[in-house]
This record gives sequence, structure tokens and C-alpha cells, in this order.
Amino acid sequence: MKGLVLSGGKGTRLRPLTFTSAKQLIPLANKPVLFRVIEAIAEAGVTEIGVVIAPETGEEIKQNVGDGSRWGVKITYIVQDAPRGLAHAVKISRDFIGDDRFVMFLGDNCLQGGIHTLIQQYAQSDYNAQIVLKRVPDPRSYGVAVLGEAGQIVRLIEKPKDPPSDLALVGVYMFDHNIFTAVENIQPSWRNELEITDAIQWLVSNGYRVYPYIHEGWWVDTGKREDMLEANALVLEEMTPRIEGEVDAASEVDSRVTVEAGAQVINSVVRGPTIIGHNTRIVNSYIGPFTSIDHDCVIENAEIERSIILEHCVIRDIPARIHDSLIGRRVQITRTPRKPQSYRLLLGDYSQVGLL
Ligand code: DAU
Repeated sequence: MKGLVLSGGKGTRLRPLTFTSAKQLIPLANKPVLFRVIEAIAEAGVTEIGVVIAPETGEEIKQNVGDGSRWGVKITYIVQDAPRGLAHAVKISRDFIGDDRFVMFLGDNCLQGGIHTLIQQYAQSDYNAQIVLKRVPDPRSYGVAVLGEAGQIVRLIEKPKDPPSDLALVGVYMFDHNIFTAVENIQPSWRNELEITDAIQWLVSNGYRVYPYIHEGWWVDTGKREDMLEANALVLEEMTPRIEGEVDAASEVDSRVTVEAGAQVINSVVRGPTIIGHNTRIVNSYIGPFTSIDHDCVIENAEIERSIILEHCVIRDIPARIHDSLIGRRVQITRTPRKPQSYRLLLGDYSQVGLL
């Protein structure tokens, strides 16, 4: 069994962060989504993992992920020239996969409880493909599956306007080598991508055995800001808290807070679940639940709640609470005492600011 992680694409819905960085490297509880995906595959006992990367963000992914030795796996990078679809990513991975069965995991998806059980189930089955599904209230932004009487998959549709069921395709799929024949036999969709749903539909229509695995835990596709915040909250809820940094006597830090090594909390209130990254300083501030502040930040005279703040940010002297926010690397938010009173902004393309 091999692993294939899809970490290319453009990440348009997370601009401007994705102008400078791969969306799969945005952290949840200070650990990139992509690391969590690789960890889940490694924990399931798969040691050979291919990572599909885009030319624009591939180098950054390589630098961050490395050769996989830190997870005890071997990583092979596969460059996809453009985001031509999930089935195209499979097509170009043929040499790496060979005739092995493999698990494909979208590099921006986060799944509760790992994939150990489903890999075991697939390994013991004679299925040609097994697809992870989750019941969701509104599946219109996902692939949607219809099951037959014997529980097999009979139909798949990508992002239907009028969904035929509530079963969304989670970004985890298990395949044998027949998927390579399928991807050779499909045409690009209306969005000009080779869709994996069409490839799986080809397997179904040609008599191959395609079965579902219904995931009962939570699952988040972290494509948008609100999804990232939601996933961050869910991951923080499951963390085992630890205080490795310094909390002074004037501060109030509850039992669900993680303070990483070298971090300092001074005269502040921190309510968990929350993580304060290493070498970050929280001074005269309030940090509320479901917040992740990455390493080497300074938060002073400010209030932040249910937000993700990436590394090396400075947030100082802000009179209102920052809430539901996703703030990229090395951002500075401060007050300017100069007259006339005004907002002075230096924002990248596609930035979003909500002023009082
Ligand atoms: O998240 C689950 C959904 O993922 C499924 O329900 C859909 O059936 C499936 O098509 C997919 O839909 P998305 O529109 O959310 O896929 P997205 O374009 O966000 O790409 C998912 C991941 O794959 C992301 O990490 C980028 C990577 N990717 C994407 C494309 C199109 C590639 O590596 N290469 C590509 O060509």
C-alpha cells in the first residue's frame, strides 16, 4: 500500500495568504494541515508517500516537509504543471504508484480519528476502490454519492446544484491499479479539470467494485477562512494541553491552554482551548477560546478570540476585540498616534478588513 497526497492547486479561496504560501501549509493548532495528513497516513502504517505539488508552491512544501524521515516515511515529490484536476494528479503519479494499491488523501482535508480502520478494511477487501463519505446537511460544494441496494456506490456527481443524497465525498480515496485505466478514459469537466468523481464513475459503470466507507467523526475541507477557523477549533478541542513556557503570577491561564516552550504570558487572561506558540509574548492582553497564535508573535494590549494568527505577527494597542480572523505571517496591526486620526493600511490583493 502506498500513499498519495494532493498538495498542488491554487488555493484561490484563501487569498491573499495563498499568494505567498501553499494553503496546505496553513496551520491548525500551529501544525500545518499537510503535516496532519502525512501523520495520519504514517500512523496507518503506510511508509511510501507521493506528494503532488504545484510549480508555484512546491519548493516551499519541499522545504517544510523534507524527505519524510521525521514521520518515519519516505516522500517522493511529483510536480503537476497546472491544477488540471484530481484525476490528472493520479495520472501523473502512475510511475510512483506502479501496481500497488494506494490511499489518496487531499492535502487540505482534516479528518477526526485518522484513517487506520479504513485502510485496514480496504486491505482486507476485494474492492477495486473504496471512497470515504460523510453525511452533511448541504453537500452542494462537494462530490456527492448515491448508494445501491447492496451498499455499493452506483453514482457520483461533482458539486451538484440539486444533490441526490446527503453523502459527500471526503477527500480520502482508496484505489487499485484500475483507476489508471479510468483516468485515461474520461474527459475534462465544465471547469476544465479531470475530475476524480468522473474516474470513479467510470469504474462503477464498467463493472468494478466500488464501495463506501462512511466516516462518523468530524471532517473539514479547509478551503475557506471559515472552514479553517472551524477546523482549528475542532483540533484545539482534542489537544492535550501543556504549559512549557512562562506564565507570570498576574496572569490567568485555564487548564485547556497550551503554552509552548519559550512563550511568555504576562499580565494577561488566556481561555482555552488555545495554543500560544514558542517564543510568542502575550502582554496585557486577553486571548479567548479557539485561538492559535503561532511562534515568535507579540500580542500586547489586545484582545483576540477564535482566530488563527501565523508566525512573527505583531498586534499591539488595538481598542476592539479581533474575532473570527485568519492573519498571515509577519503581519503588523498597530495604532498610529499621529494626527489626523486615520486608518493607515498596507494590504495585499484580496485582503479583507472589517472595521468598526
Ligand atoms: O474536500 C472534498 C472535495 O474535494 C470532494 O468532495 C470533491 O469531490 C473533490 O473534487 C474535491 O473538491 P475541491 O473543489 O474542494 O478540490 P480542490 O480544488 O480544493 O483540491 C483539493 C486538493 O487537491 C487541494 O489540496 C489541492 C489539490 N489539487 C487540486 C487540483 C484541482 C492538486 O494537487 N491538483 C489539482 O489539479
